[in-house]
Amino acid sequence: MRSVCLVVCLLTPLFGYAAPDATIGQELYEQHCASCHGEDAAGETVPGSPALKGFDSSYLVRQLENFKTGVRGTHEEDIQGQLMAASLVPLESYQSFADIAEFVISLPEASKIVDTRGDKKKGKAYYSSCVICHGEDGRGLPAMGGPNLLGLDAKYVTLQINNFKKGIRGGHTLDTWGSMMGLMSRTLPNDQAIEDVLAYLNSDLNPPSRIRQDF
Ligand code: HEC
Ligand code: HEC
Repeated sequence: MRSVCLVVCLLTPLFGYAAPDATIGQELYEQHCASCHGEDAAGETVPGSPALKGFDSSYLVRQLENFKTGVRGTHEEDIQGQLMAASLVPLESYQSFADIAEFVISLPEASKIVDTRGDKKKGKAYYSSCVICHGEDGRGLPAMGGPNLLGLDAKYVTLQINNFKKGIRGGHTLDTWGSMMGLMSRTLPNDQAIEDVLAYLNSDLNPPSRIRQDF
């Protein structure tokens, strides 16, 4: 018995969490997250808070861990990231991140923000260097660490890409995934290029029924 416990007890912290519980996650989400990210996790209840629907759980948990450990949201110019990090102060257990992620992934998918200012054709050309990590359809490739890019607000995406470029995000020495994206962010020369990519992602790759037209 003791040897079984020795193995199990030693391995548990290495191999992560107990099975995540969406019911507990929902309670935690409503208490600590909905005020900014919205009851339905569609984002923007408080400006700058992104939609959380559409992300895979490994990305969600990784970001929450990053904010909790200071890998993300500690740079002095990262005002939005600091706001987010502060909201995790009451959450002590990493298990709660897995529970919240389980709840968020159970929500229906995000609606799309139509961005007509960008040039779809140019966006397609830029996006060809993103496919390998974010997928042909922009829904993300968890094995490459690349999250979903659909349904995100243009202002949020522009801020993130610029933060990656400046090392405000992804610049922490322990942020392996973020530093990878940091390199890639430099393939987008300016904000117009980001708009172009979003125009491409939001138009050609998504069924019209999922596109929000009220913009
Ligand atoms: C006070 C408002 C606020 C609260 C409360 C809050 N957030 Fe956030 N959250 C933000 C902002 C602002 C950002 C964007 C940070 C940035 O620009 O890097 C963010 C970013 C995130 C991200 C990263 C998304 C991405 O695309 O990389 C995740 C995941 C997240 N929040 C989850 C949560 C969860 C789960 C909770 C509850 C435990 C929560 N947030 C509570 C404001 C908030
Ligand atoms: C080599 C793999 C790779 C390539 C290529 C790549 N990315 Fe990423 N991208 C990532 C990873 C990994 C992350 C998540 C970083 C983290 O964990 O914080 C990311 C994050 C992002 C985010 C932040 C999303 C959010 O919700 O905060 C955006 C926006 C983004 N990428 C856009 C792009 C665009 C546009 C391109 C093409 C110009 C691109 N990426 C190319 C790996 C890549």
